[in-house]
Amino acid sequence: MEYSNLVKEKFVELFGEQPDGVYFAPGRVNLIGEHTDYNGGHVFPCALTIGTYGAVRKRDDNKLRFYSINFEKAGVIETTLEECVPANAAKDGWTAYPKGVVWTFGKKGNPIDKGIDVVIYGNIPNGSGLSSSASLEVLIGTMLRDLFGYELSMVDIALYGQYSENNYNGMNCGIMDQFASAMGKKDNAIFLDCATLNYEYAPMVLPDAKIVITNSKVKHSLVDSAYNERRSSCEKALEELQAVIGIKTLGDLSEEEFEQYKIAIKDEVRVKRAKHAVYENQRTIRAVEALKNSDIEEFGKLMNASHVSLRDDYETSCEECDILAETAWTIPGVIGSRITGGGFGGCVVSLVKNDSVDLFKEKITAIYKEKTGIDCEIYVVDCGDGAGRI
Ligand code: GLA
Repeated sequence: MEYSNLVKEKFVELFGEQPDGVYFAPGRVNLIGEHTDYNGGHVFPCALTIGTYGAVRKRDDNKLRFYSINFEKAGVIETTLEECVPANAAKDGWTAYPKGVVWTFGKKGNPIDKGIDVVIYGNIPNGSGLSSSASLEVLIGTMLRDLFGYELSMVDIALYGQYSENNYNGMNCGIMDQFASAMGKKDNAIFLDCATLNYEYAPMVLPDAKIVITNSKVKHSLVDSAYNERRSSCEKALEELQAVIGIKTLGDLSEEEFEQYKIAIKDEVRVKRAKHAVYENQRTIRAVEALKNSDIEEFGKLMNASHVSLRDDYETSCEECDILAETAWTIPGVIGSRITGGGFGGCVVSLVKNDSVDLFKEKITAIYKEKTGIDCEIYVVDCGDGAGRI
């Protein structure tokens, strides 16, 4: 059954009426530009064709009822508008995401004064780092905009999702994931300047290569706190640099400028973190340029360099993802391979020549299993459209 019908039928079964609408918001994979978004740099993600589906109806009281087909045992979770406050986030489980978005609308001056009934189903593999939470936030934001008639752009919806995740869920993420989910375009990746939110689409249908995602199936603990810690290191390094050079963000620096001024950063670890942010931003700009010139080999080399930098300087990779990327580099027909997303587990993204995809699957699966005992999962993906009513 189509997932849109699945959520619709479940909605009718549970709530006894037709929903007002059925929506979809995708997950994302980032091709290059990692941990650059909150550093005022560039990112290059694309929306996927997997994501979160939802059926919704506006109520005429203050109740909210949530049901996830992924967590059937939890049943229908009932709450009220008054309960949508950050203090409840820790005990809210998955409903912290929709409740956070409801709360955010109010904070932004677009109050939600009636409840909703929602049924969702997500087909993004759990804990894979392909942005299931951002897709849920963007899904709910799009639904609320339509149901309550607020004139918001999809960029606003992305910003609401990020605000919610930062201030309701306490995860200080940048804008990349929500932006990709809201603004994705079929067959395109998005070249986004996170300092200005200027963006352009770049066609990502490669004549002889595929985007292949390998799921390490591991997610190390304390990911959110390690992420927040990386972010504050970069903020501290920026402050130290601002004492010697007039910049707004690390994304303002070229590699040469960084090398010239890095002496201002008073801690070795912070130098490495800031170096990654600066160099990764420049790599991303160069990678998109290479793609425009159909120089896919150069794009691949920059992906590999991105992985090395995340492994050695930013230290957000992990043994399992290093095995996946480093094994990929040895397979003929692999153009580039790197860990993608926040890190500490999750997925590795590779560009693989069409006629090497089978060999890639076979080798990666066998070598990863031999070295870690884990069965990885491999998905050959397409770039999909952003969120909307379906
Ligand atoms: C997570 C965050 C994003 C971004 C990436 C790293 O996915 O949600 O904002 O910082 O990590 O590039």
